[in-house]
Amino acid sequence: MINQITRNLKTFLIFTIILYLCSNTYAGEERKYERPGHLFSPLKIPLLEDPERDTWQKPEKILHALEIGKGQVVADVGAGSGYLTVRLSERVGTTGTVYAVDVQQEMLNYISKRLRDTRLKM
Ligand SMILES: C[S@@+](CC[C@H](N)C(=O)[O-])C[C@H]1O[C@@H](n2cnc3c(N)ncnc32)[C@H](O)[C@@H]1O
Repeated sequence: MINQITRNLKTFLIFTIILYLCSNTYAGEERKYERPGHLFSPLKIPLLEDPERDTWQKPEKILHALEIGKGQVVADVGAGSGYLTVRLSERVGTTGTVYAVDVQQEMLNYISKRLRDTRLKM
Protein backbone atom coordinates (compact mmCIF):
# COMPACT_ATOMS: atom_id res chain seq x y z
CA MET A 1 0.00 0.00 0.00
CA ILE A 2 2.78 2.45 1.01
CA ASN A 3 4.72 1.44 -2.15
CA GLN A 4 1.67 2.24 -4.29
CA ILE A 5 1.28 5.69 -2.68
CA THR A 6 5.02 6.44 -3.16
CA ARG A 7 4.79 5.40 -6.83
CA ASN A 8 1.72 7.60 -7.41
CA LEU A 9 3.41 10.51 -5.67
CA LYS A 10 6.54 10.10 -7.84
CA THR A 11 4.44 9.97 -11.01
CA PHE A 12 2.55 13.08 -9.92
CA LEU A 13 5.78 14.97 -9.17
CA ILE A 14 7.37 14.02 -12.52
CA PHE A 15 4.21 15.06 -14.37
CA THR A 16 4.10 18.42 -12.52
CA ILE A 17 7.78 19.15 -13.30
CA ILE A 18 7.28 18.36 -17.03
CA LEU A 19 4.17 20.57 -17.14
CA TYR A 20 6.06 23.42 -15.44
CA LEU A 21 8.99 23.16 -17.89
CA CYS A 22 6.66 23.06 -20.92
CA SER A 23 4.66 26.11 -19.80
CA ASN A 24 7.84 28.13 -19.19
CA THR A 25 9.25 27.27 -22.61
CA TYR A 26 6.00 28.31 -24.27
CA ALA A 27 5.87 31.60 -22.30
CA GLY A 28 9.38 32.40 -23.56
CA GLU A 29 8.32 31.88 -27.17
CA GLU A 30 5.32 34.12 -26.62
CA ARG A 31 7.53 36.99 -25.50
CA LYS A 32 9.81 36.59 -28.52
CA TYR A 33 7.27 36.36 -31.33
CA GLU A 34 4.01 38.12 -32.09
CA ARG A 35 1.00 35.84 -32.28
CA PRO A 36 -1.68 36.34 -34.96
CA GLY A 37 -4.59 38.35 -33.57
CA HIS A 38 -2.45 40.14 -30.98
CA LEU A 39 -1.36 43.76 -31.33
CA PHE A 40 2.28 44.72 -31.03
CA SER A 41 2.63 45.95 -27.45
CA PRO A 42 3.68 49.59 -26.93
CA LEU A 43 5.99 48.19 -24.23
CA LYS A 44 8.08 46.84 -27.08
CA ILE A 45 8.61 50.22 -28.82
CA PRO A 46 12.38 49.99 -28.13
CA LEU A 47 12.46 47.02 -30.53
CA LEU A 48 10.97 49.20 -33.29
CA GLU A 49 13.50 51.92 -32.54
CA ASP A 50 16.54 49.64 -32.48
CA PRO A 51 19.32 51.49 -34.37
CA GLU A 52 20.34 48.14 -35.91
CA ARG A 53 17.08 48.24 -37.86
CA ASP A 54 18.42 50.76 -40.36
CA THR A 55 21.18 48.31 -41.26
CA TRP A 56 19.05 45.28 -42.02
CA GLN A 57 15.78 46.90 -43.11
CA LYS A 58 17.22 49.72 -45.22
CA PRO A 59 14.17 52.05 -44.92
CA GLU A 60 15.61 54.60 -47.35
CA LYS A 61 15.87 51.89 -50.00
CA ILE A 62 12.20 50.96 -49.39
CA LEU A 63 11.01 54.56 -49.68
CA HIS A 64 13.09 55.05 -52.80
CA ALA A 65 11.57 51.90 -54.36
CA LEU A 66 8.10 53.24 -53.51
CA GLU A 67 9.07 56.48 -55.30
CA ILE A 68 8.08 58.61 -52.31
CA GLY A 69 8.99 62.18 -53.13
CA LYS A 70 8.45 65.85 -52.37
CA GLY A 71 4.88 67.10 -52.11
CA GLN A 72 3.23 63.69 -51.94
CA VAL A 73 0.39 62.77 -49.58
CA VAL A 74 1.01 59.37 -48.00
CA ALA A 75 -0.41 57.21 -45.20
CA ASP A 76 1.69 55.16 -42.78
CA VAL A 77 -0.90 52.57 -41.77
CA GLY A 78 0.13 50.70 -38.62
CA ALA A 79 2.64 53.45 -37.88
CA GLY A 80 3.65 52.09 -34.44
CA SER A 81 6.35 54.29 -32.93
CA GLY A 82 6.66 56.34 -36.13
CA TYR A 83 9.90 54.80 -37.34
CA LEU A 84 8.73 55.13 -40.96
CA THR A 85 6.49 58.17 -40.34
CA VAL A 86 9.53 60.33 -39.63
CA ARG A 87 11.41 59.08 -42.69
CA LEU A 88 8.32 59.55 -44.84
CA SER A 89 7.92 63.12 -43.54
CA GLU A 90 11.49 63.97 -44.44
CA ARG A 91 10.92 62.62 -47.94
CA VAL A 92 7.64 64.39 -48.71
CA GLY A 93 9.01 67.64 -47.27
CA THR A 94 7.12 70.71 -46.15
CA THR A 95 4.79 70.63 -49.17
CA GLY A 96 3.72 67.02 -48.52
CA THR A 97 1.57 65.33 -45.88
CA VAL A 98 1.95 62.06 -43.94
CA TYR A 99 -1.00 60.50 -42.16
CA ALA A 100 0.19 58.29 -39.29
CA VAL A 101 -2.55 55.73 -38.61
CA ASP A 102 -2.60 53.25 -35.74
CA VAL A 103 -5.31 51.46 -33.78
CA GLN A 104 -3.43 51.93 -30.49
CA GLN A 105 -3.69 55.37 -28.86
CA GLU A 106 -0.38 54.76 -27.02
CA MET A 107 1.40 54.56 -30.39
CA LEU A 108 -0.20 57.79 -31.61
CA ASN A 109 0.75 59.51 -28.32
CA TYR A 110 4.32 58.32 -28.79
CA ILE A 111 4.42 59.70 -32.35
CA SER A 112 2.95 63.06 -31.23
CA LYS A 113 5.60 63.38 -28.52
CA ARG A 114 8.30 62.36 -30.96
CA LEU A 115 7.21 64.99 -33.49
CA ARG A 116 7.10 67.69 -30.80
CA ASP A 117 10.77 66.89 -30.13
CA THR A 118 11.70 67.36 -33.81
CA ARG A 119 11.23 70.23 -36.24
CA LEU A 120 8.59 68.26 -38.19
CA LYS A 121 5.25 70.04 -38.33
CA MET A 122 2.15 68.33 -36.91
C1 LIG B 1 4.88 45.79 -35.56
S1 LIG B 1 4.18 47.41 -35.40
C2 LIG B 1 5.03 48.14 -36.80
C3 LIG B 1 5.12 49.63 -36.72
C4 LIG B 1 5.77 50.35 -37.89
N1 LIG B 1 5.08 50.12 -39.16
C5 LIG B 1 7.23 50.01 -38.06
O1 LIG B 1 7.60 49.43 -39.09
O2 LIG B 1 8.01 50.35 -37.15
C6 LIG B 1 2.52 47.20 -36.08
C7 LIG B 1 1.59 48.35 -35.71
O3 LIG B 1 0.39 48.19 -36.49
C8 LIG B 1 -0.72 48.57 -35.68
N2 LIG B 1 -1.93 47.97 -36.24
C9 LIG B 1 -2.32 46.69 -36.22
N3 LIG B 1 -3.49 46.53 -36.86
C10 LIG B 1 -3.84 47.76 -37.33
C11 LIG B 1 -4.95 48.24 -38.08
N4 LIG B 1 -5.93 47.42 -38.50
N5 LIG B 1 -5.01 49.55 -38.40
C12 LIG B 1 -4.03 50.39 -37.99
N6 LIG B 1 -2.95 49.99 -37.25
C13 LIG B 1 -2.86 48.69 -36.94
C14 LIG B 1 -0.35 48.10 -34.30
O4 LIG B 1 -1.03 48.81 -33.29
C15 LIG B 1 1.18 48.36 -34.26
O5 LIG B 1 1.48 49.60 -33.70
